[in-house]
Amino acid sequence: MPEHDVDWAALRDAAVTAMEQAYAPYSKFPVGAAALTEDGRIVSGCNVENASYGVTLCAECALVGQLHLTGGGRLAAFYCVDGQGNVLMPCGRCRQLLYEFRAPGMQLMTTQGIKTMDQVLPDAFGPENLEETT
Ligand code: THU
Repeated sequence: MPEHDVDWAALRDAAVTAMEQAYAPYSKFPVGAAALTEDGRIVSGCNVENASYGVTLCAECALVGQLHLTGGGRLAAFYCVDGQGNVLMPCGRCRQLLYEFRAPGMQLMTTQGIKTMDQVLPDAFGPENLEETT
C-alpha cells in the first residue's frame, strides 16, 4: 500500500483509543497499537499486564489476535503510542510478532518518521527460514 494511502491520523486515533483500555497497574505504562490491514480494516490492541510480571502481554499481542479474529490478512501500516499519545517503538519481541504478518512493504510510524518493517527488523528470521532444508 503506497505511503499516501495510509491515514496515519486515523491509525494514531485508533492506537490512542486502544491505549485508553490498557491494563497496566504495575508499570503504569499504558500502550496502544493499531494497524491497517491490506484489505482496509483497522485492528488494534492494548497491553495487559499480570501480577506475574513476565506474563505481561504487549499491545501488539492483542493486535495480532484481533487481526486473526476479524478475518486474518496482512498488516500494511502500524502505529504504537504510549500513555501520552507519543509514538512508541515496538519492542524487539513485538517486531518479530509484526514481521510474521507483514504485507510487502509494511510501514511503521517510528520516532524517526515512517520506516519499513525491513528497516526496524533487518535480516529477520521468518517463516521462509523454516522451509530451508539442511
Ligand atoms: N509494551 C507494549 O505493550 N508494547 C511494546 O512494544 C513495548 C512495551 C508494554 C509492556 C508493559 O506492559 C509496558 O509496556 C512496560 O514495559
